[in-house]
Amino acid sequence: MEKKKFKFLRGFATRAIHSTIPKEEESRPITSPIYQTTSFDVKDAFIKQISPKYIYTRGGNPTLHELEVKLANLENGDIGETFASGMGAISTTVLSIAKKGDEIIADYELYGGTQGLFNSVVRDCGIKVNYIDMTNFDQVLEAINNRTKLIFLETPANPTLKITNLEEISKIAKEKEIITAADNTFNSPYNSRPLEHGINFVIHSLTKFIGGHGDAIGGVAVSKRSDFKLMTEIKKNAHGIGACLSPFNAFLFLRGLKTLELRMQRHNYNATELAKALEERTDKIGKVLYPGLPSHPQHELAKKQMDGFGCIVSFYLKKGTNVQKFLRNLEIPHYTVSLGDCDSLIEDPYNLTHFSVSHKVKKMIGITKYMIRVSVGLENVDDLIDDFNNSLDLL
Ligand SMILES: Cc1ncc(COP(=O)(O)O)c(C=O)c1O
Repeated sequence: MEKKKFKFLRGFATRAIHSTIPKEEESRPITSPIYQTTSFDVKDAFIKQISPKYIYTRGGNPTLHELEVKLANLENGDIGETFASGMGAISTTVLSIAKKGDEIIADYELYGGTQGLFNSVVRDCGIKVNYIDMTNFDQVLEAINNRTKLIFLETPANPTLKITNLEEISKIAKEKEIITAADNTFNSPYNSRPLEHGINFVIHSLTKFIGGHGDAIGGVAVSKRSDFKLMTEIKKNAHGIGACLSPFNAFLFLRGLKTLELRMQRHNYNATELAKALEERTDKIGKVLYPGLPSHPQHELAKKQMDGFGCIVSFYLKKGTNVQKFLRNLEIPHYTVSLGDCDSLIEDPYNLTHFSVSHKVKKMIGITKYMIRVSVGLENVDDLIDDFNNSLDLL
């Protein structure tokens, strides 16, 4: 019988748990060792006059390599490069694709840190960023000119959970020979794989679902073999800029991957149940935003391009509500930034994650003082629902 081709025939969890990289013959550890080293002895390679696989961890390391191979596989891509953070992955990818005089198209609704990067470092490099509404294809087409090199998107958007149509955007971009990059942090590769919809580069903040335990910061960029040339440029720049992931954090992300499928299933379930329960509280809540709810305006598109709807639920408390009192009375979620952890996290984007976004943009995309964003964790969902209902009752 022909041996099964691991990459294509195994399920998501099997590929996330098992490594395709052969273990040392002598010991064959189940858990991959952490190569916590700066340098590698290259004497043998020099004697044999072959180029050594590893010399210095900033340019490559077996623990990082294992993580890159696994993440590329889970994203249905071929090549990966890890970074010290999600922002390291975004900045290096963007600055490797667009150069002085070039233009980028991005949605108004982007993670605040990405907007900050685009409005400072990227702009200072002589690259113009044109912000549009990515769900409006006329706006996308109008923003394209012969200097446009990259369309950068995030779906679902943070914190409004607007969905961008990956297939349509990549079709427009391909026709105009423009590269596309999608920040897939909100989905994890379990819920969506943008390369399958024609996107060229996928980026993650590994800090979120991949790590999953709120204890490590990291990032990754993944592409298909067809974008090998640009990916080589990204790798070269990553090693030059030096925003490399530490082997210890790579080990934590490899460990996180082993439970990613289970955690995502629970995140998806808990968030759906909490969103449904919040939607019933019409006495205190105006509107609930979650792509898994039939009331979400793009629920059908979400069903088409996502395998699960994620852990972020946003909602609006009724105008005039004492938001601080609501947040204070909750016992389970931590009031903080970040998402995708085992613990539920809550915040009001107006004052925290999107504090630096201009008032005009906040108003345009619907970030009001009454908006709440929850990263629904892995606790027992009945406890979460009780906690939210209690806090609403106390208002
Ligand atoms: C969607 C998204 N992309 C990128 C980042 C940046 O990732 P990191 O904090 O790992 O640099 C974040 C951080 O919150 C994020 O939410």
